[in-house]
Amino acid sequence: MRAYDVILKKRDGHELSEAEIEFMVDGFVKGEIPDYQMAAFLMTIYFKHMNAEERYNLTEIMAKSGDSIDLSFVPGIKVDKHSTGGVGDKTTLVLAPMVASCGLPVAKMSGRGLGHTGGTIDKLEAIPGFKTSLTETEFKKSVKDHLIAVVGQTANLAPADKKIYALRDVTATVDEISLISSSIMSKKLAAGADAIVLDVKVGSGAFMKDIASATDLARAMVDIGKKHGKAMVALITDMDKPLGYTVGNAIEVEEAIDTLKGKGPADLEVLCIELGAQMLKLGKITGTLDTARKMLEDSIESGKAIEKMKEMIESQGGNSSVVDDTALLGISKNAFELKSWKDGYVTSMNAEGIGIASMKLGAGRETKEDKIDLSVGIRLSKKTGDSVKVGETLCTFYYNSEEKLKATIEVVRASYILSDVKPQKTKIVHGVVE
Ligand code: URA
Repeated sequence: MRAYDVILKKRDGHELSEAEIEFMVDGFVKGEIPDYQMAAFLMTIYFKHMNAEERYNLTEIMAKSGDSIDLSFVPGIKVDKHSTGGVGDKTTLVLAPMVASCGLPVAKMSGRGLGHTGGTIDKLEAIPGFKTSLTETEFKKSVKDHLIAVVGQTANLAPADKKIYALRDVTATVDEISLISSSIMSKKLAAGADAIVLDVKVGSGAFMKDIASATDLARAMVDIGKKHGKAMVALITDMDKPLGYTVGNAIEVEEAIDTLKGKGPADLEVLCIELGAQMLKLGKITGTLDTARKMLEDSIESGKAIEKMKEMIESQGGNSSVVDDTALLGISKNAFELKSWKDGYVTSMNAEGIGIASMKLGAGRETKEDKIDLSVGIRLSKKTGDSVKVGETLCTFYYNSEEKLKATIEVVRASYILSDVKPQKTKIVHGVVE
């Protein structure tokens, strides 16, 4: 077999066999196929796409390129959740304690932030003392004793995806449905869950800018998972504005804690209840979504969810007093308020712009090697749909470097579209793909 012939076949729009896909992926991982041929191959997929069978094979080959996690020590059905990435997305911080407090074990590996999207592991590290890297024994003990552990990815999951993603990132081949779905699902399959709830974001802060393409992506991932014998559900959820009112690390933990106490923003709470209900149902904790929603609402009202957050923090070596005193999170004291320049409404927001601004402030990474500042971030006072008056605060920057603040203000200003037009209310969940 020759890489040239496989590229040509896909370039001309034909279906590739499992052996041909395996030849390309394995050859690239082993260094036998050079970057330029793999880049051309990825570009042919970008333009000619893959059908369901090809996507299934690509996912399987990438999933098997590294370790597989054995979650057999976790009792019952193992349910995982994955978000395609957004701005202000602190869902896991809220969802994990909520569902664990309802009896569903959470043994979760999460990622770090890159580019305009944040990562759960960075956020958790804003909690003083919290260890995101546990030994296998500690991880298992935390799940056994407390039904919860959230750690960074230590195992070598889907290394083929890692190598291919790095090439996609520099060849404008990230945003293609076959490539995204196989990339995400290869890691999810290797992570060992029986059931997966996907949170597929749509809007200005997401990969998928419209509901039709987000639904196609969700369908592709659900189909891949089902073909691998996993129970799957995907929610299509709004990312046309940041989720909640905070973007950063420590500042997002603070909002997650407020939400677990029942004092969080409505969009975040509703999203966590909807995703959590799907998780409880797939985990057979309860038979219907309505009873699952009720259990989750009760977990907040009764204080069980915030207690579980405390338990998780303690079991992972952190200072659980942050739950009662969020000043311990160390959000920067240097604050700058951006004021409205117009009377009217926030007609729309560029969520990606807010994510980029937070990154430039120091809360995120432009490249994997960048160090981040957990104490900086942006608190929104106004979001899409809110009315504004000249001189009112749109948002507050918490910063540590004047230079970085300067580089950020204009990005945020340009991300707020203010006008006389009051936009229509949008839903947080746009659809469900099963
Ligand atoms: N996240 C991934 O892991 N892979 C993609 O291709 C896109 C988002």
